[in-house]
Amino acid sequence: MKIIMLGAPGAGKGTQAKQIADKYKIPHISTGDIFRANIKNETELGKKAKTYMDQGLLVPDELTVNLVIDRVKNPDCINGYVLDGFPRTIPQAESLDAALAELGEKIDYAIDVDVPDENIISRMAGRRACLSCGATYHIKHIPTKVEGICDRCGNELILRDDDKPDTVNKRLSVYHEQTQPLIEYYSAKKILVDVDGTKDMAEVFRAIVEILGA
Ligand code: AP5
Ligand code: ZN
Repeated sequence: MKIIMLGAPGAGKGTQAKQIADKYKIPHISTGDIFRANIKNETELGKKAKTYMDQGLLVPDELTVNLVIDRVKNPDCINGYVLDGFPRTIPQAESLDAALAELGEKIDYAIDVDVPDENIISRMAGRRACLSCGATYHIKHIPTKVEGICDRCGNELILRDDDKPDTVNKRLSVYHEQTQPLIEYYSAKKILVDVDGTKDMAEVFRAIVEILGA
């Protein structure tokens, strides 16, 4: 099963993608996580990506597209994958479709997690991330046992640089301009499904499982 997660920054794509990956035993591929790991390891890609991410801008397609296309050709993707944060522009979607068509493959579902802008800002301000194991928490909705410490690996949690309110506003406007047109793109291909992302996490996941099948 090949799945794309769509939705505004903070809509809950990552939260749902992790659960989908666990349930259906397919890899969770998050371009945001890949860039953050590169920033942490101070790679060339990380240094370049950081200059865009810190401003709330998209990393240019030439740094992003081949990264994902190479990744989905890995043997662990043989039974599918869930793409989280990619594609984010029409050219990225077209490149992905072209690369998959060459392999005789296609995306099965594009899941749009729908959350209005008003809800996004508070979600982002409360989000805490573990850069060591990739876990995500929320100070109200998913608190940790010990404040500021990852339940899973014991490392310190951070507020992402791009979750500060000014950058969140910029990310939202970039989303509406560059990413939202993908909803129409996948709707035209008849693989778009909508879920109400304002519901609690378990309810959103139930709605997704209903679509994908148990
Ligand atoms: P990325 O990491 O992909 O960020 P994003 O799309 O902005 O998404 P987020 O990770 O912020 O949110 P999410 O929807 O996954 O929400 P989450 O589940 O964490 O990208 C970061 C940057 O990298 C981009 O800005 C760009 O610069 C660059 N980049 C990445 N991919 C790129 C690409 N393809 N092209 C170019 N540039 C790219 O949830 C948010 C919070 O809400 C959490 O605290 C969570 O616990 C909580 N929450 C989740 N669901 C619920 C719920 N149902 N109810 C209450 N709280 C909830
Ligand atoms: Zn951790």
